[in-house]
Amino acid sequence: MDEKNDLMEKVVSLCKRRGFVFQGSEIYGGLANTWDLGPLGAELKNNVLRAWWKFFVHSRRDVVGIDAAIFMNPKVWEASGHVANFNDAQVDCKDCKKRHRADHLIEDSLKDIKVEGLTPADLTKIIVENGIKCPNCGSKNFTEVRTFNLLFQTHIGPTANDNEPVYLRGEIAQGMFVNFKNVLNTTRKKIPFGIASAGKAFRNEITPGNFIFRTLEFDLMEFEYFIKEEMWEEKFEYWLDEMHKWLDLVGIRKENTRVREHTKDELSHYSKRTVDIEYNTPFGWKELYGLAYRTNFDLTRHSESSGQDLNYFDQETGEKFIPHVLEPTFGLSRTLLMILLDSYNEEEIEDSNGNKETRIVLKLKPSIAPFKAAILPLMKKQELLDKSDQIFDLLKNDLALDFDVTGSIGKRYRRQDEIGTPFAITVDYDSLEDNAVTVRDRDTAKQERVKIDELLSYLREKTR
Ligand code: GAP
Repeated sequence: MDEKNDLMEKVVSLCKRRGFVFQGSEIYGGLANTWDLGPLGAELKNNVLRAWWKFFVHSRRDVVGIDAAIFMNPKVWEASGHVANFNDAQVDCKDCKKRHRADHLIEDSLKDIKVEGLTPADLTKIIVENGIKCPNCGSKNFTEVRTFNLLFQTHIGPTANDNEPVYLRGEIAQGMFVNFKNVLNTTRKKIPFGIASAGKAFRNEITPGNFIFRTLEFDLMEFEYFIKEEMWEEKFEYWLDEMHKWLDLVGIRKENTRVREHTKDELSHYSKRTVDIEYNTPFGWKELYGLAYRTNFDLTRHSESSGQDLNYFDQETGEKFIPHVLEPTFGLSRTLLMILLDSYNEEEIEDSNGNKETRIVLKLKPSIAPFKAAILPLMKKQELLDKSDQIFDLLKNDLALDFDVTGSIGKRYRRQDEIGTPFAITVDYDSLEDNAVTVRDRDTAKQERVKIDELLSYLREKTR
């Protein structure tokens, strides 16, 4: 097994073993491509989301956040073009019945071929003429290529036939477009300004997979930044830079990312320019984030379709216009996977008897680590437990903490290293006398004695 696949397996196994990610509905045998975040995964996700909101919303005066409903009037998805255009091409193997995304099947089988923009008939021709085989069973016996809409449909009301279908949102952007006027009127923001949002999006993907990389429902964070048309090129570069600052802030290494420009044929139906920030995953370079110039496509379509005036009036110049939009989009679920891949480390160490062992360390940025510190009473003795309780109470309102009393102190350190806890606080008999504890640093394994009175400011400073 090569090193990269090995890394993926190790991270997946760690996620299951330590409660970052569980298979969805596991006790019923699961539901393919659904995953649940366990206690540590939920903490990690909330921390990343909070950091994102702080960086892109709270620390700026030109971005505000909203939280829109998942169900929207179906006319939204018609106006946005998703009902007509949000499609992938699928092809089935007639022998083993395995379903493939036609573009992936072709690109994985033939080198240096790009298939964006080709019709289903073109794709079928390429598959037949090049004798492409099913990667599952080797057969060349495929159906014709057909397009497939990615929006999930459901119905409101007791019977499916009562009403027209509603869609689970395929992106969260539309909630921000349809609230453009509400936000403008209530916040009195001036262009350029942005509306941010985070939440679940749903896509009936033909070929989900690679753990939490491509799933049927996933978490997204994105914002729409409303501009005058002539600003778009300058602001595009600006937001790309900010996206790189964010990667650094959250601990995704620059050398594992690259920027890829979308070709003309590949652009989404709404976009004039899009770049992806890709990550070098164990399964190849894959899209992590996107930055799109959506022109004034969405607001124009919603204005026409709803009959509402979505113009912006510039009081300084007296101009009236439909704003253009830049959209930085961040897959939150993918961010979690990339953070875990990037922070996974194994180190050879010696135990107290000189035996070699492997220390697994998740070198997460302290600001996003699920726990900021773990409190470890040296022994299960009442005095030490009482002192540890006091320390827990002292810190609990400011920091997420673990509390572990079982096993040797060495084992407990390893457990915390493995889940990325930046500091371990050992409470020993000296603590009862000197009112101090031993604080161990996850990355260096160095220990220092810290006064309990100073512990909160010490940890706050180092885990911000
Ligand atoms: N509003 C723009 C938009 O939704 P997108 O490129 O289709 O753009 C945004 O999706 C991000 O969502 C991607 O960059 C990726 O990180 C994430 N993403 C897309 N499909 C996904 C899936 N099936 N599972 C997990 N994440 C996904």
